[in-house]
Amino acid sequence: MIKIAPSLLAADFSKLGEQLVRLEQAGADMLHLDVMDGHFVPNLTFGAPLIKALRSHTNLPFDVHLMVNQPEKMIEWFASSGADYITFHAEAVEDISTVVDLIHSFNIKAGVALKPHTAAEVLHNVIDKLDLVLIMTVEPGFGGQKFMEDQLDKIRQIRNMIKNQHTILSVDGGINAQTALSAKSAGADMLVAGTYIFKSPDWSQAVASLR
Ligand code: DX5
Ligand code: ZN
Repeated sequence: MIKIAPSLLAADFSKLGEQLVRLEQAGADMLHLDVMDGHFVPNLTFGAPLIKALRSHTNLPFDVHLMVNQPEKMIEWFASSGADYITFHAEAVEDISTVVDLIHSFNIKAGVALKPHTAAEVLHNVIDKLDLVLIMTVEPGFGGQKFMEDQLDKIRQIRNMIKNQHTILSVDGGINAQTALSAKSAGADMLVAGTYIFKSPDWSQAVASLR
């Protein structure tokens, strides 16, 4: 069954603790935490202290999506914040493999995210050691954007590249009940959804409709 990972970017930031409990009850499989540094993307969100504060409010695994330059300098912070997966951008590093090894050295699962204009081929040499691949179907930086249909080919391509059963193929950006279907048919294992879930009056229903 396809996994659903709500993105906290669209949450009410004054009620994060209680919303995590509601998301778990609504059937979410993982929480997606968007960290932005104002440089890699033109927006700022939150850092490791906030993630650490949320950790005790839910048993759901945390996928920390780092939209930052030089993520290698921050891996240790997020490793000790309670992240289960740390996902960094291929475009933000010189050598993907080195950063994957660094994350694994903290016993944390490693993911790599690709911006819409980055080709699947950049993952050729590392795909076998990744725990997660995050395909961006919007330009990273903001929630509430339109799903880019032209990314479906890349999802199919990466689906064919993944040989390990445990490697999750996750799709992030513009997910709603319609685009969820396209992403799933193209081979996604997990859907990240912010606006669609948080703006819905019934989160259980929203999670179920994405599945
Ligand atoms: C965008 C973030 C996404 C975002 C998705 O840079 O990586 O995770 O929160 O939000 P929606 O579902 O609103 O497109
Ligand atoms: Zn994200």
